[in-house]
Amino acid sequence: MHMMKLVSRVSTLLLSVTPALAIWPAPTSITTGNQTLWIEHNVQVTYNGGIVRWSSLSHPSCPSAAIRTNEELLALQLPWYGGFVPPGSDFRSQDIVHGGVCRALDAILNQNFVPWKLYARNAVKQTEPAANKGKTLITKLEISQTGKDNSSTWKPVGGSVDESYSLSVDLKGTAKIEAVSAVGVLRALESFVQLFYQHTNRQIYTTLAPVEIKDAPQFPHRGILLDVARNYYPVENILSILDGMAWNKLNRLHIHVTDSQAWPLQIPAMPEVSEKGAYAPHAVYTPHDVALIQTYAVHRGIEVIFEIDMPGHIGIVAESHPDIITGWGAEPWTTYCAEPPCGQFRLNETKVDTFLDTLMDDLLPRVSPYSAYFHTGGDEFNFQEYLLDPSVGTNDTTILIPLLQKFTDKNHARVRKAGLVPLVWEEIPKDYNITIEKDVVVQSWLGGSAVQELTSAGHQVIDSNYNFWYLDCGRGQFLNFENGQPFDTYYPFNDWCGPTKSWQLIYQHDPRANLTEEQAKLVLGGEVAVWSETIDETNVDSLIWPRASAAGEVLWSGRLDASGNNRSAVEAAPRLADIRERMVARGIGAAPVHMTFCTQGRNGSTCSWPVGV
Ligand SMILES: *[C@@H]1O[C@H](CO)[C@@H](O)[C@H](O)[C@H]1NC(C)=O
Ligand SMILES: *[C@@H]1O[C@H](CO)[C@@H](O)[C@H](O)[C@H]1NC(C)=O
Ligand SMILES: *[C@@H]1O[C@H](CO)[C@@H](O)[C@H](O)[C@H]1NC(C)=O
Ligand SMILES: *[C@@H]1O[C@H](CO)[C@@H](O)[C@H](O)[C@H]1NC(C)=O
Ligand SMILES: *[C@@H]1O[C@H](CO)[C@@H](O)[C@H](O)[C@H]1NC(C)=O
Ligand SMILES: *[C@@H]1O[C@H](CO)[C@@H](O)[C@H](O)[C@H]1NC(C)=O
Ligand SMILES: *[C@@H]1O[C@H](CO)[C@@H](O)[C@H](O)[C@H]1NC(C)=O
Ligand SMILES: *[C@@H]1O[C@H](CO)[C@@H](O)[C@H](O)[C@H]1NC(C)=O
Repeated sequence: MHMMKLVSRVSTLLLSVTPALAIWPAPTSITTGNQTLWIEHNVQVTYNGGIVRWSSLSHPSCPSAAIRTNEELLALQLPWYGGFVPPGSDFRSQDIVHGGVCRALDAILNQNFVPWKLYARNAVKQTEPAANKGKTLITKLEISQTGKDNSSTWKPVGGSVDESYSLSVDLKGTAKIEAVSAVGVLRALESFVQLFYQHTNRQIYTTLAPVEIKDAPQFPHRGILLDVARNYYPVENILSILDGMAWNKLNRLHIHVTDSQAWPLQIPAMPEVSEKGAYAPHAVYTPHDVALIQTYAVHRGIEVIFEIDMPGHIGIVAESHPDIITGWGAEPWTTYCAEPPCGQFRLNETKVDTFLDTLMDDLLPRVSPYSAYFHTGGDEFNFQEYLLDPSVGTNDTTILIPLLQKFTDKNHARVRKAGLVPLVWEEIPKDYNITIEKDVVVQSWLGGSAVQELTSAGHQVIDSNYNFWYLDCGRGQFLNFENGQPFDTYYPFNDWCGPTKSWQLIYQHDPRANLTEEQAKLVLGGEVAVWSETIDETNVDSLIWPRASAAGEVLWSGRLDASGNNRSAVEAAPRLADIRERMVARGIGAAPVHMTFCTQGRNGSTCSWPVGV
């Protein structure tokens, strides 16, 4: 009865039964009843009146949601799973909905779970509904889409796609979804999945009928930043992250695809960059991999945004193009960059322009069919690097800032020429005083009053405040400390941004805090960040999940509830524990929210700090 408050506002008669009324993120409005319905294995699904063929899960027209290796996906030759994807690919709403229906029913029927961790200890049999004869079946799922999708549905700028939906399940066994866009249908299907559990007799039920949900997101940009440069992530792993994002209604994957340590991105026009810059010949993203990741994302209502961070964070390019980098591997690195190895683009060298023209002409046409944005980085610019650059030979900001302005202008012109909107890190306008056009979206990470300052200067902002939303913080140093002075100085080897950001800390961060209404409108949303110095595919699941879910609820549902009160972690915990179980059942190793003791048949107050103590 964790949603008691929400439910009781609508009707005090409607009571939810155990366990959690588990829609995560919380819908704008939800009412539920206490009747049990069972879902039929061949439930009929219609989309705008036409039958959706999903029933035979082994049939290639409805591949199992578990299929996700590159080879398996390719073998299917399905446009929505990344077979041949023509540039400018025209995604069809019916394919998007079809894939969503397949995955949702696969999750409900084949990847469900008996919620023993959510029911009282040793009480599954007593708690789950009796599977008696004459039970009511859900036999129909009727999907209607009221609007028409267009290209901006699949690669939206913030706010250009309507993700709202309504979902109902009546007592006669008919479920209905209505949405303006196919993306709204996908969001509704994920809520639908969350109504069901598996019975110990393997049948599937909900105890919440009748259900009425109306829902829409608070922020259009709800993302995860994944750094695939410091450590390499196999493609399948990135696809799995996209799955988790879709289940949590997150809609932007920002891939920080290169950095000073490695360049895994293949650029056919300049193959030498990844040949010399990737960690190994296999640790690369081919153009096909990139298209696969983008297509897979579009089919889940997610936009992939690539970032080439520059002019800093780019040292590795020196391995293939030594003439265009200053300070590659400079020591002591602490003077020349934030993290070894150093290396920045030279700012008074025309070969940099030739390089970037070739790079962008190759890459941006492969991005623009799937994304409205391209991120040009711009954080942690180091002035000292130019003392080592023979054509500049100074760290004087009055010389370097105009060069950086020119560099940024040219770069953003390249991005706009490809029909994309530039994104930059906050230092560009805020610390280096670079003038940027109003179309540029600024990603803020340094905290303090940055979001306030940027929005009051009229910039659109994405909030990634490291004090709250950096998921890698608190793991300790990746650097080694020699005995003696370094050891003594840095003992006990904490990292720069610890402690770990707990889900409760993430959950209480409001990207709109302290903003006027005008300023708040400029906040497109936020991203939690996964910087990968000590993270790779072996530990990323439990690093991201369920903490990104917590940010996901802030971004979808808002930090404040409908009455303007802060959402309560006590209310949220059982629902978070529920979606955590669902993620595990669907193949992602999300970390436990807390002890099984706290979840077994209990509400969030069982394991809460007593009020008033
Ligand atoms: C189910 O809800 C109805 C009203 O909607 C109520 O009268 C009834 O007592 C509830 N049953 C249980 C077991 O909670
Ligand atoms: C797509 O549709 C939306 C909503 O109907 C509309 O605002 C937008 O202008 C359309 N975009 C294009 C590229 O047609
Ligand atoms: C420039 O270099 C000098 C000498 O190394 C140093 O004192 C100064 O702080 C540097 N300025 C900047 C902007 O890095
Ligand atoms: C850039 O390099 C040219 C020579 O190639 C030099 O004449 C000019 O002074 C340099 N500009 C700056 C700002 O260092
Ligand atoms: C940017 O402008 C501020 C305020 O005028 C100034 O304090 C700061 O030094 C400038 N930064 C640079 C890199 O010039
Ligand atoms: C909002 O302002 C308060 C008081 O100045 C400050 O403590 C808090 O950190 C600010 N919150 C954010 C998210 O900026
Ligand atoms: C919500 O929580 C913040 C701290 O995150 C606090 O400053 C604020 O007063 C709370 N707002 C309400 C309405 O309780
Ligand atoms: C949660 O459980 C406690 C202890 O059983 C109970 O006192 C409390 O009323 C419950 N709270 C809600 C919101 O159901």
